[in-house]
Order: sequence, then C-alpha cells, then structure tokens
Amino acid sequence: MKFENSMKIYQEAIEVIPMGTSTFSRNPNLFVIGNSPLFVKSAKGCRIYDADDNEFIDYSMSLSMVTLGYANSEVNQAAKEGIDEGLIYTLSCPEESFLARQIRRVVTCAEMVRFFKNGSDSCEGAVKLARNYSGKLKIITVGGYHGFHDWFMASTPRNKGLPEKLSELVINCRYNDIESIEKTIVEQSHEIAALIMEPIINYEPEAGFLERIRELTAQNGIILIYDEMKTGFRLDIGGAQQYFKITPDLAVFGKGLSNGFPLSALAGKRYLMEQFENENCFMSGSYATEKASLKAALKTIEILQKGEAIRHIWEMGEMLREGIEEIISKQALSEVLRIVGLAPMTHLIISDQEDATVNEIKSFIQQECAKKGVLFVGYHHTSLGHTREDIEYTLEVYNDVFSRMRKALTDKTLKDKTEGRVISAFGVRG
Ligand SMILES: Cc1ncc(COP(=O)(O)O)c(C=O)c1O
Repeated sequence: MKFENSMKIYQEAIEVIPMGTSTFSRNPNLFVIGNSPLFVKSAKGCRIYDADDNEFIDYSMSLSMVTLGYANSEVNQAAKEGIDEGLIYTLSCPEESFLARQIRRVVTCAEMVRFFKNGSDSCEGAVKLARNYSGKLKIITVGGYHGFHDWFMASTPRNKGLPEKLSELVINCRYNDIESIEKTIVEQSHEIAALIMEPIINYEPEAGFLERIRELTAQNGIILIYDEMKTGFRLDIGGAQQYFKITPDLAVFGKGLSNGFPLSALAGKRYLMEQFENENCFMSGSYATEKASLKAALKTIEILQKGEAIRHIWEMGEMLREGIEEIISKQALSEVLRIVGLAPMTHLIISDQEDATVNEIKSFIQQECAKKGVLFVGYHHTSLGHTREDIEYTLEVYNDVFSRMRKALTDKTLKDKTEGRVISAFGVRG
C-alpha cells in the first residue's frame, strides 16, 4: 500500500499549517507517518478514501461526529436545500427554533437551547451561565476535555500565557473517583459554580458514581453540566442523560447532533438559559443560524428518532466488543490489551510492556491494520454505516494483527517492525 500523496501533502502542509492541521485530534503525529493515511479525499458510509485512493474502514467516524455514516444522502440533501435557500440571512431563520423545539422534545434537561458552531463555545457558554447565576467562580472538571477556551486550558499543561488566576479556578478530579469529588465539594462548595463532566470517559461509570454526583451538586448549589459532545445522539437519542436516567442542569451537544455539519448546542434549565437575555451576560455567533447545519441536524434527529440507527450502532458495537474480548482471551493478551467502554464507544487500552511502549505497540497495530484496510485509532465509534460484514472483517484483521503483535513482543522484535515514524502525540492534559 502506498502513501506517497499523503506524504507529499504532509510535507507541504507542515510548512504552512502548524502541526499540519488545525485539529488537534487529526494531528499526523497520532499516525505512523510514512505508513498510514494522513489525508482523506472522500468518505461514504463507514469508509474513507485517502489521498492515494486507498480504502479504509473507519472507526473514529470523524472524532465521533458521524453516527449515520459519511455522506448520508438524506442529511446531505437537507443541507443542500439550506445552501440553495441562501444559507444565512440578515435575520434568523425558522429552522433555529424548529431545531431548539426538536431538541427540547428529545433531551430531558433541555427547556431552552442556544446554538454555536463548535463544542468549545458551548462549554464556554455553560460555564459562563453557571458563574453568572451562582456568583461563584470555581469549576470542577472530572478528567474530560471541554474545548480550547481559557477557562479550561488554564487547568492543563498547555497554559503558558494564560493568567495564573484562571488555573486556580479549576479543580481537576478523576473520573470514577467519587471520594475526591465529594471531599472537594464538601470543602469548597461556597466557591464552586459548576461541575462539568463527560458522562463517560473511555470507562463506564462505577455503580452509583453519576447518581452521587447529581445528589452532591444538587445539595450544594452547584450547577451540573454534562458535556455530551460524544455521548449525545449516540448512546440514546436523548444522550447519556437519557441512557443513565440522570438529568443535569445544563448539557452541551455537537458532533452526532448534525452528522458532522458544524453545529453545537447548549441546552438546559430555563432559569439558567434565560440569563442570556440579561444585560450582564453575553454569548453570540454570526454563524450560529447558518441553515445547512440546522437543516442537517433536523434531518439527523428525524432519522435517529425512528430508533433503527441507534439500535444498529449498539449492535455493531456489541459485536465488535465481544469479538475483541474473545480474541484477547483466546490469545491470552490481557496483559497488553483491554477493551473498555459502552458498545457505541469502546476503547482498546494498551499497556506498556517491558520492551515496548504504548505508542510503539499502537504504531505496530495501526500500520498492520492499515495494510489490510482498517484504520486503527485505538477506539471504535460505530455508525449506521458499519455492516456486520465490516465488523467480521475487522475482527479477522485484529485476530491476525494481534497474534503477530504478540509474537513480536515475545521475540522482542516489535520495534524493528515499525516501518514509519512511531506515533508521538499525547493528549491535551499531557
Ligand atoms: C467532550 C468534548 N467536549 C468539547 C469538545 C470541543 O469541541 P470542538 O472541538 O467542536 O470545539 C470536544 C471535541 O473533541 C469533546 O470531545
């Protein structure tokens, strides 16, 4: 398999775009440069076609955005109508309130809704509302990612140039560590405006974890914000809050909301959302009422409401997870690999070995899967575009690649077998 065009574009891109792309999670350093696709020309269903016309089954689905499959014809048709009708106007379009009402029908916490173009802005809006309402400033995070805005980035190692004061306002707790969250709330509730969290981060919540957080926040006057960028319109039409039957005060959505069209939503209780009408609270976006994305979202929700797509996403995810568990068990790989998470969003956790790091092992798996037409990124976001045959084929590929990985680890030859540059990227939190 050749990656010559990907490499040529990569060399050109890094000259004019820092890192070669504007999206952190599309960073070429997350891939085995030289032996992996780096640029995609087109996509359909669950398949992407790279710059060298190689074909791959995808499991990132554009960072979890594409639940109905790439280039879904009904969603695309709706978006095209929006473009032909003029796209965006001096005044808002009716679709903005149609969509807000539609979200209110399917999302439990959504009494009112505001739209933005990306998840970071929606998270910023949620934090702003919580601070504005409570008059308090501190925010608890629970291990997740909530966008590039200063309030959040100040709490990460990528905070150079941000006022130090900001990092003092964010308290990072760990997912599933209820003791530290409880201690923080008990000791500092008088200063804490909100707790923002992704309802699931790779691992499933331990029994009672989410329920206890809901209880503690309610009892201590802390706004509970669910960041449902990935879980929304995926785990269930009403997101993780419907799946786990826990209602937050505010929630943010994007990604699966519009099958990849640029749109995010901040939804929640009226008493909080209404602050956007106050003179002392402001969020706005020139592009927020762009019609192609609003129409794409309306169509996406219409399709999801029929139920079949979400059932399918779960079924394909179950099949994949069970298959991977079986391979790990048969090949006695549990010291190296573990599959975790709910079926629509599973993660393959790789552990450092004596003679090979996580990134070296991941690079080997990625490069060998790529040769067989599967793009391995370490997680699986199944979609309506994945078929049983795709999952069966992926499991065959994994079975073969994992057994060769095991042999290479035993022989201590894994590092010699990496044909491109080993994956070197790391997460936002370091
Ligand atoms: C959970 C979560 N929150 C917020 C964001 C930020 O969204 P965006 O990149 O659209 O600004 C992301 C993006 O990956 C995300 O996964």
